[in-house]
Parts: sequence; C-alpha cells; structure tokens
Amino acid sequence: AGSRAAAGQGLAFGVIPPVPTTVDAMTVPAGYRWAPIIRWGDPILRGAPEFDPDNQTAQAQAGQFGYNNDYLDIISMNRSRGVTGGPHHTGTAPRTRDTKALLVSNHEYTNENIMFPPSADPATISEQRRIAMAAHGMSVVEVRRRGAGQPWEYQRRSAHNRRITVSTPFTVDGPAAGSALLRTVADPSGTVVLGTLNNCAGGTTPWGTVLSGEENFNQYFRTTGTGRGDARYGLTNRPTSRGWEQEDPRFDATNPGYENEPHRFGWVVELDPFEPDAPPVKHTALGRFKHEAANIVVAPSGHVAAYSGDDERFDYLYKFVSADTIRTGTRQADRAHNKTLLSNGSLYVARFTGDSPVAEIDGTGKLPSDGAFDGTGEWVPLLVDGQSRVAGFSAAEVAVYTRLAADTVGATKMDRPEDVEASPVTGRVYVACTNNTNRGVSATVEGATEPNPRNRNRDGHVVELRETGDDPTATTFTWSLLLVCGDPSKDASAYFAGFPRDRVSPIACPDNLAFDESGNLWISTDGQPGTIGYNDALFRVRLEGAQRGLVEQFLAVPIDAETCGPVIDEAESMVYVNVQHPGEDGTWGAQRSHFPDYTDTNRPGQFAGPRPSVVQVWRG
Ligand code: FEO
Ligand code: CA
Ligand code: CA
Ligand code: CA
Repeated sequence: AGSRAAAGQGLAFGVIPPVPTTVDAMTVPAGYRWAPIIRWGDPILRGAPEFDPDNQTAQAQAGQFGYNNDYLDIISMNRSRGVTGGPHHTGTAPRTRDTKALLVSNHEYTNENIMFPPSADPATISEQRRIAMAAHGMSVVEVRRRGAGQPWEYQRRSAHNRRITVSTPFTVDGPAAGSALLRTVADPSGTVVLGTLNNCAGGTTPWGTVLSGEENFNQYFRTTGTGRGDARYGLTNRPTSRGWEQEDPRFDATNPGYENEPHRFGWVVELDPFEPDAPPVKHTALGRFKHEAANIVVAPSGHVAAYSGDDERFDYLYKFVSADTIRTGTRQADRAHNKTLLSNGSLYVARFTGDSPVAEIDGTGKLPSDGAFDGTGEWVPLLVDGQSRVAGFSAAEVAVYTRLAADTVGATKMDRPEDVEASPVTGRVYVACTNNTNRGVSATVEGATEPNPRNRNRDGHVVELRETGDDPTATTFTWSLLLVCGDPSKDASAYFAGFPRDRVSPIACPDNLAFDESGNLWISTDGQPGTIGYNDALFRVRLEGAQRGLVEQFLAVPIDAETCGPVIDEAESMVYVNVQHPGEDGTWGAQRSHFPDYTDTNRPGQFAGPRPSVVQVWRG
C-alpha cells in the first residue's frame, strides 16, 4: 500500500500575484534570486564558437545549446549507480547536494521569426533551415557549483557535454523495429533513425536515463495525405512551414523510398547522459503518437510502468508495463539491464467511467450529485508482452498506428493529456489535461464527460488516478479530478478539490508536472496569456489534508513564454525552470522580449534577445 505524504512544510515562499502579459521579466518570490544557467547558443562542444546572432551558422549551432528548451533535469553524478526516486521509485530523485551534475534538456522547436533576420536570398534561407535543424533535439551539459544551495555554472568543456540534433543516429527497438513500416531507402534495416523531433516534456528514469517525448512530429513532413493513419496523425500533402523538405528529401514522404520516414518519429526516446557515445534509443513498444512525455513508476513486483499522454484534442492516455523486472544493484550490468525494460512489454489505453449523470456536469460550476468528478477506469490492452490484442493489427501495426488501434477499443477521449506523473510519496498518478476548446462546440463533437467536464474547455484540468491496490501494473483504477482550472474570481466552474476558491492562485492550461520531496505537486503552465490573461507560471498544489487543493503561485516567466521542465529541490530551496519561447510573437526587427540578458544595444532592428534559457531560482 502507498505510504502517506510526510506532513512537511515544503518550500517556504510568499505567494506571488498573477503577472500581467505585458511584463518581460522573471517574477520570483521575495527573498529569491534567479539567473540563467545556460541560454540558446551558448557553446557546449569543443570548437563551438561564442553565440553571434548576427552571423549564426548551422555548424556553430550544432555545438551550441539548442532552442526552446522544454524537458529539464539536473541529474546527480551518483545517478549512474543504483535505483532512486522515493518509496515508489518514480525517478523523481531526492535532489542532489553534489557540486557536479549533468543538466539534460530537450529542444522542442524553433521560432525562426525571432531567431533570424528575414531574407529572400535562397542560400541564406537554406542556412537558416539548417540552423533550425541543428537547434532541435537535446543537450547534455555538465554543471558545477561551490556547494549545496549555491547557483550552478555550466561547463563549456566537459567530456559529458553532448548535442543530439536532427542528424544524430538513434537505434530502434520493440515491435516495430526492423519492420517494413520503418524501412526507407536510406535505412533498409528499419533500425537506425537520424534525429529526434519536437521533443516536448520527458522523465528521468529511476536508473538515471532520460525519456523524451517526440510530440508534434507531423509538422516536419509532407506526405501524400492519403496513407494509412495520415489523417489521424495530421500528416498532409502541403508544403511544411519550416521547409525542411527543400533541404533533405526524407522530409517529403511523397519522394520514392521515403514513404515511411514519418513512421520513424512520434516515439518515446531514451538517452543515457552517462554514456556520451551510446546512441539514444526509440522504444516502439510504447506506441507512436504525439507523446508529451513518459514517466516511470516501479511496481512492488519490480515491473515498471511508463505513463504517457497523447497531446491532441480528444486523444488518449496510455500506460506501458514492462515484461521484465528492474534490478536494484549498483553494477554496470544492472543498469544495462534496466535500459532494456522499455523494449518489451504491454501497452494499454485508458477507458474512464464516470459515476454521475453526464447531463449535470456541464462546467457551470455545479458539482456532480455525488459531490465529486470521479469514477472508475480500466486499462484496455493493445499489446500484451509484445503481441497484438487488436483485431486486424499486427504488433508492428499497433506500435506504428497506435491511435488507430486505440480508436477501435473505445478509449476515452481526453482534453489534450500532457504530462503524466506519479507521486514519489503516494504513487498516485496525475494527468495534466491542458485544454480542449473544441469539446462540445457542435452537436457532432463530443461534449462534456465526467472526466472532461467542461464544454469549450479553455483552462484545462488535472486528473488524479489511483491504481487498484496501488499497483502500477493493475488493469483497473479509480480517478477523481483534483483541479478544474481557471480564475475563480471570474469563472464559477473553477474547482480546487473543494478548497476555498477565494484562497487560491488563478491557474490555467496545466502542462508539465513535478513533485517536491514532501509530495506536493508542482504545475507549470502553457497558455495563460490567451485564457486567464496572465503570464505563464509555476504553481505548488497541496495534495493532502485540509490544504488539499490549495494552489500557490511561485514564479512567472516573461512575455509570451511558457514555463517548462520544473525541477524542485525542496531541501535546498532551489527551483529550476525552462523558459521556452520568450517573446515568440515578436519579429527580428521588433522583439517583444529581451530575456534573459536585457541588453539594450541601441541597434534598432538588430538582435537584443530573447534567448530561451534554463533558469535557476534560489534563496539568496
Ligand atoms: Fe509541447 Fe504538449 O506541449
Ligand atoms: Ca462522480
Ligand atoms: Ca508541453
Ligand atoms: Ca506545451
């Protein structure tokens, strides 16, 4: 049975008020300071030049920190040994007091409109596309500091530093590896893929590797638009906005031999930051969809569960359960074994059942008659120990066309499930449903359900899920809504697990989740400016006792930015966030943000920021 959260006080801070959308600043609580650890363009590989935005090249970018950092962790050097992550081994570490660590970050996408001067010159446009390709992917960077509680500095020269870009070779394992569906003229084996795309959130495993979700991969490809799954995955026969198909034929799947290239993206990838020469792996056993992330929980039996949301309106929540069991030893062979756990297992999709009449839960602020948005659920199998359970689908087809397979089994349509993460203290699982403005928009579009109780769900909600017997391998669960987000002063339907509505911070569009050591949930947001009208932010949410449902705002990010990758080190009063796409609605000549350096160069029309950055916040 799950242990109860410690009644720890948690991080001490004064709640900050919501920040207007015109503010181009990091806002942190009184008594806290902030600084970037690393910014877009900072050199991390040998030979990489200093960032020069007026003369950026693809070659320089390939050795520099990438753009739009999303997932983040600061991983103790000790994580290369043994298994960590609280009583439930979720990978959320008791944080480090080390003076050396590895910073791992995703680079989801690029904002060309604010990265480059506009150009009509074909050679310049081509180079800008290649810079964008090199600015995607992932980074591993060594960081050091003088002592616990002190800010980190990134190490420009470390043998651990690494860039993963669109041209880095990945190996492929699981049911689709080597299948006809993954073969191309450039890779007849169907087992080696160049690059990873649109890496959104992720998760650090209990064995110290990083999982990363390939999310909106469809935007990089032109296809016939009529192939199997094309419509369901948003793949169309139109030129892409990024134009990469002009640079590399594999991004145009209408080219003979490249029909399957889009099948090679949309996976969960695993990167071992402690093995700088090991190719990262695409795990097809976890299915192909718009993976926000993947997060691990270890079951009492030693099997591991990986939860993952498919971030699309009306798409699904998934769980993978490994066929093999974890080894907790500290030998290198134990760690090597654990890195195979996501290669073979069972893939499930969630079916939620409410226990109240649907007609009464229409987002008007009235609670269901039993007083709670809640009910039961089951995990419907798509693959069991690598074998298909879906009529008409081979195992490789379930893996590649996971959305189509899930459609056939009556999975529950959710409001854009993003990060899914289990509490390291209680094992309960939390699902951020960021929003779904299409729910119930017309008679032909599904309307409110108990687990998604709002029509035109603008502000999102958070689901709490409890596996039967607190066993992550269970095939049934119970659930309730922790939060129905919004600004309670303006929105009668906002709900905070019954906590008094006038005592919480307004919150909308929950995206990334994290836990502190006391078991409090932390939520970062993406979309508050366009919904409740405040800059995106980071919040703590109490889960236990009389304060359950208390939402408290800790920080806000600058204009147009989204808050990503929160990492909470409660013992050290350190918080880390990725500031993604600051000033993204600007242009090269009229930047809206100058984060994080705020230099005014007095060079009208030239670059003075912004630079997406990893930010540390500490008491000082
Ligand atoms: Fe890239 Fe679902 O956010
Ligand atoms: Ca109910
Ligand atoms: Ca996200
Ligand atoms: Ca997002």
